[in-house]
Amino acid sequence: MNLLLKIWRQNNSASRGSLVDYPISGIEGDMSFLEMLDVLNEQLIAKGEDPVVFDHDCREGICGSCSLMINGEPHGPDRLITTCQLHMRKFKDGDTIVIEPFRASAFPVIKDLMVDRSSFDRIQQAGGYISVNTSGHTVDANAIPIEKEKADESFAAATCIGCGACVAACKNASAMLFTAAKVSQFALLPQGQIEATDRVLNMVKQMDLEGFGNCTNTGACEVECPKGISLENIARMNREYLMASAKG
Ligand code: SF4
Ligand code: FES
Repeated sequence: MNLLLKIWRQNNSASRGSLVDYPISGIEGDMSFLEMLDVLNEQLIAKGEDPVVFDHDCREGICGSCSLMINGEPHGPDRLITTCQLHMRKFKDGDTIVIEPFRASAFPVIKDLMVDRSSFDRIQQAGGYISVNTSGHTVDANAIPIEKEKADESFAAATCIGCGACVAACKNASAMLFTAAKVSQFALLPQGQIEATDRVLNMVKQMDLEGFGNCTNTGACEVECPKGISLENIARMNREYLMASAKG
């Protein structure tokens, strides 16, 4: 396949970026999208040029690092996959592919296609945990009966990999789907009840402090989420928030 790549190049968050054209040839359909970028970078390095910086780690759809906007869609044209799971067979010979970073003021560009998503870490640190007293007679988690439906819903929420596609897809750059998934995975379980009030209040407060936008229910986040995190989690977080506010 011969392709024209239009890639966002930007030195750092303070500098202005622009799209730069890179024609590339010899791309196989079985290559992953990131392998295609590896080929480009090898060619750039061989020519003594600056390789394109992009984030990746597991390359198996697990870590959530690979955050690319491909032809205007977070993680590209396929559904329920991350950028590292996207294959070049989704494109055809002669295609132009526009590759940009996930854009949000709360995700400043580090360089080129790599953004700083530590705002997500700070939301998680604000309440995405449970406390377990490990001194004395700790009850084995398996000894606490949990309805199958709730366990399944909690597990589904816990599959969020923190990639940020929901933010990139949202016209308001809202982080509601991410935050709601992290609140829900605990709100559905008895182990999550002890800190439930503080958790939702603190995580939502941190989300707002980081500068993410409000949710206006467009649903773009759910469509682009590689893990199929449901909008129902946002409704659950809103209920949790209302209950916690009434208690406070
Ligand atoms: S909710 Fe989905 S899109 Fe958003 S961070 Fe989690 S996995 Fe990524
Ligand atoms: S590199 Fe880990 S999810 Fe893509």
